[in-house]
Amino acid sequence: MNLSTESLKKIDAIVAEHKDKKGPVKLMLHDVQKQLGYIPFEAMEKISVGADVPIAEVFGVVSFYTQFTTEPKGKHVINICLGTACYVRGSQLLLDRVKILTNSPVNGTSKDNMFSLDATRCVGACGLAPVAILDEQVYGNANNNKELENAIRRIIKEENTPQA
Ligand code: FES
Repeated sequence: MNLSTESLKKIDAIVAEHKDKKGPVKLMLHDVQKQLGYIPFEAMEKISVGADVPIAEVFGVVSFYTQFTTEPKGKHVINICLGTACYVRGSQLLLDRVKILTNSPVNGTSKDNMFSLDATRCVGACGLAPVAILDEQVYGNANNNKELENAIRRIIKEENTPQA
């Protein structure tokens, strides 16, 4: 897949911004993931040159951290924990509801690219089970309150409202 000129420019700006900082590779990857929704191969190449590290090292960081993905994601990412504590407190039901609400397959992306929905392993917040994370915001006890669903509905409404 060829990246758009706009995406390439974004990557160049990110690389330029971080290249003289400490630990530039992770900073660059974080911003690319945030702005493009994934880490394309072209970004890894540019980061390798900009940070002056072998591309294998950049790829190693991408594969090590689950926050990075090499596949394009939807604009909003939802993770629902299916770890044991969450599962016994009904996270499968939560996952099913969110799947219907977002029109996204599990571990996939909705056709309109609005949402990616991933089932994850324990995210280390078992005391809040069942746990969902929407765009880095954590929702605990997510079966017994409507906060997550309200946030999803808000996104759908906002994204479908024409800009003035
Ligand atoms: S099992 Fe879900 S946070 Fe630990």
